[in-house]
Amino acid sequence: MRTRAKRLDHIGTAVFFEMETQKSALQAQGRTVTDLGIGSPDQPPAAFIRQALQDALEDPAAFGYPRSQGTLGFRQAAVNFLDRRYQVTLDPETEVLTLMGAQDGLSHLTLALIDPGDIVLVPDPGYPIYEASVHLAGGTPYPLPLRAENGFLPDLQAVPEDILKRAKLLLLNYPNNPTTALAPDSFFDEVIAFAKTYDLWVMHDAAYSELSFGAEPCPSFLSKAGAKDVGIEIHSLSKTFHYAGARLAFAAGNADILKALAVVKSNIDYGVFTPVQVAGAVALQDDRGHIAATRELYQARRDAFLGPLQSAGWAIPTPQATMFVWAPIPSKQDSRAFARHLLTAASVACVPGVGFGAQGEGFVRFSLVQDASVLREAALRIVQVLG
Ligand SMILES: Cc1ncc(COP(=O)(O)O)c(C=O)c1O
Repeated sequence: MRTRAKRLDHIGTAVFFEMETQKSALQAQGRTVTDLGIGSPDQPPAAFIRQALQDALEDPAAFGYPRSQGTLGFRQAAVNFLDRRYQVTLDPETEVLTLMGAQDGLSHLTLALIDPGDIVLVPDPGYPIYEASVHLAGGTPYPLPLRAENGFLPDLQAVPEDILKRAKLLLLNYPNNPTTALAPDSFFDEVIAFAKTYDLWVMHDAAYSELSFGAEPCPSFLSKAGAKDVGIEIHSLSKTFHYAGARLAFAAGNADILKALAVVKSNIDYGVFTPVQVAGAVALQDDRGHIAATRELYQARRDAFLGPLQSAGWAIPTPQATMFVWAPIPSKQDSRAFARHLLTAASVACVPGVGFGAQGEGFVRFSLVQDASVLREAALRIVQVLG
C-alpha cells in the first residue's frame, strides 16, 4: 500500500497551520493583520556582516562543496566567541560542529543518539522540533512540565525512576522559548549532576543566549564544570545576528556526541554555503556593538508592546530575555479560542500556547518581530477588544 510513514502521525503542526489559515483568510478579505506569530527576524544583519557576505561571494572557491562539519575558520570563530562570552575553552577540530541552523542539529541529534524504545526528556511547553525529533528517531518523548510556579524550570527530581532507567537524552532551552524564562546560575550544575547520576546525554539549546536584558550574560550550560562530559550546547546565529534565512548555527561541547552527529549529517548534507560561514565568522568575532544593538531593539519592542497591555491591567510578566512575550490568558477561553479572538477582533496574530505542548494551554505567545510603533498600536487594539 502506498502510504506515508507512520512516524509522521506523531508530528503535529496543526495549531500553527490553523492560525496561518485563519490569518490568510482575513488577509484575502483585505484585512491588514499584525503578525506576531512566527519568530522570524524582520531586520537584516548589520551592514558589515552583509558586506562580508558579498565579499566572500567573489572568492572563486566559494561555490565548491563545503565540508559537512564546517570550515575551520567558522569553527575557530565559534570557539573564540564562546571564549570571549563565557570563558569556555574548546578544540575547534573536535568540539565544534557547524550546523545549517539550530534546527539541523536539533532534528538530527536524536538520529545520532536515540534507538527505538529510548526515552528522551523533553520540555513542555517547548520548541516543537524537540518532540518531533524524538518521533523521527523512533524514540519516546517524556514531557517535563515547565510551570510558572517553578520559574518554568523542570522538576528533575519528579521524573519517575522507571522513566530514568530508559531515558537517554535530556533536552533543555534557556532563555526559554516560549516561556521567556532564564535559568538561574545553579540550575545547570544541578542538570550536570543529574545527568551523571542517571547516565543521560544533555542538549542545551542556547538560541536566545544573547537576547537577555540584564547586565550579565545568561549562564551558559557549557561554561559549567563537567558540562562537556555529558552534553552539548547549540548556538544559533539566526536571532542574535538576524541571520535566520542564511541558516547557520553551531553545536559545541562533548566530542563523542558531535562525532555521532557529524556521521548523520555527512549522510544528509554537504555543509553550509561557504560565504555564509565566512560572514558568520565575522559576525561572531568582530564585536561592533551589533549584539548589544539587537538586545536593545528587542527590549524597546518589549516595552512598547507590554506598556499598554500592563497599564490596562493584563498581568503579563515582563520578559527578561528572548524576542517573545508569554502571556497568561485573561479570560476563560482556551489558547486556540483566545488567539482566534485576537486575530478576528484586533487583527493581531499570535501562537496559541497549546502549540508548544499541553502545558502551554492557558497562554499565548507574541513574537516581537515588528517595529515598536506597530507593536504599540497592536497592543492598543488588543486593549480595546479585551474591554
Ligand atoms: C528554541 C529555538 N531553538 C532553535 C530555533 C531554530 O533556530 P535556527 O534558525 O538556528 O534553526 C528556534 C527558532 O525559532 C528556537 O526558538
